[in-house]
Amino acid sequence: MTQPAIPQTDPGAAYRERKDEIDAAVARVLASGRYILGPEVEAFESAFAAWSGLGYAVGVANGTDALELALRGLDIGPGDVVATVSLTAVATVAAIELVGARAVLVDIDPFYGLDPGGLEAAIRLHKPKAVIPVHLYGQACAMGPIMELAGRHGFKVIEDCSQAHGASLAGRRVGSFGDVACYSLYPTKNLGALGDGGVIATGDAALATRLKALREYGWRERYISAETGMNSRLDPIQAAILRVKLAHLATDNARRAAIAAVYDRALNETAIAPPRRRPGAGHVFHQYVLRARDRDGLKAALAARGIGTLVHYPQAVHQQPAYRGRVAVGPAGLGLTDKAMPEILSLPMYPQLEEAALTRIAAALAELGKEES
Ligand SMILES: Cc1ncc(COP(=O)(O)O)c(C=O)c1O
Repeated sequence: MTQPAIPQTDPGAAYRERKDEIDAAVARVLASGRYILGPEVEAFESAFAAWSGLGYAVGVANGTDALELALRGLDIGPGDVVATVSLTAVATVAAIELVGARAVLVDIDPFYGLDPGGLEAAIRLHKPKAVIPVHLYGQACAMGPIMELAGRHGFKVIEDCSQAHGASLAGRRVGSFGDVACYSLYPTKNLGALGDGGVIATGDAALATRLKALREYGWRERYISAETGMNSRLDPIQAAILRVKLAHLATDNARRAAIAAVYDRALNETAIAPPRRRPGAGHVFHQYVLRARDRDGLKAALAARGIGTLVHYPQAVHQQPAYRGRVAVGPAGLGLTDKAMPEILSLPMYPQLEEAALTRIAAALAELGKEES
């Protein structure tokens, strides 16, 4: 008898679990007659600003726009260089190029965060005006050394928190270290809408005001563009759904951590490496990414057992056709990135993953991991 397939991620399960609350929130917006910005978006922004501890939040259409707007809000544009990692969603680099700036890619450290050593080498040569550390897979970058470099060299820091809603370092929430924090609210994220969404958080009141203008044609006053902007408004239906989901984020992150603990135990005594934890980091496991020498073989063997996995990402940005040979790479190279690419595999990870499915995955890992060795 074939067992039911376990998906790698399941945003539909997140909806079904809170269907009544979400349906009521959507119905409220539909009945309100207000379908662009307005009180739902403002209520989500207030809730998110309070949750982030930063004071200001601006709802936007998606995470890519959040990064683009943050760059624009910090006056990064043509002629400027922005440093980030190559192992990230392509959106991080796309946003840099969308504002007309040039990206320089630096390596990851052993925890998949932007490597401060690689950054320092890139600073000398490329003099970036901004740096985008990406808190990949749910774990904070080494923000201490990165902010120390920012203080010394005067570049802006835009934290890409798209995979790290609620992650922390030394008890401090990610997004609170740099100048501005950008979040994707894509459905599979730790805080996910049921469609596209994004949010920018900052402690800088003037920047927040400017970002609100930039997301809507540069309007500070309706129909009057004080500067050129774009249309990147958070949809109020999504804002209402996100208000529901934000209230459950801490619970959902705790469930992800519990799933990660089961995977850790299953991989114990196998040749498969569990994700390394940065000391002092509060990991929120957007993804649980293992390392296996025969990654593709393991992926196929898990698939044969009905267990879905994904690779985040099949290619680093510098390996992708649109960027290869064109995007700048820092002088320290991308050694750890290149080594990671063929080995990384993301296991099923979503708060609604059921006990029976988890047990099946754990048993398969323990069995297949022995074969790996
Ligand atoms: C690290 C990172 N940055 C940016 C983005 C872009 O977000 P979006 O897909 O909402 O535009 C994503 C999500 O896909 C992401 O994971």
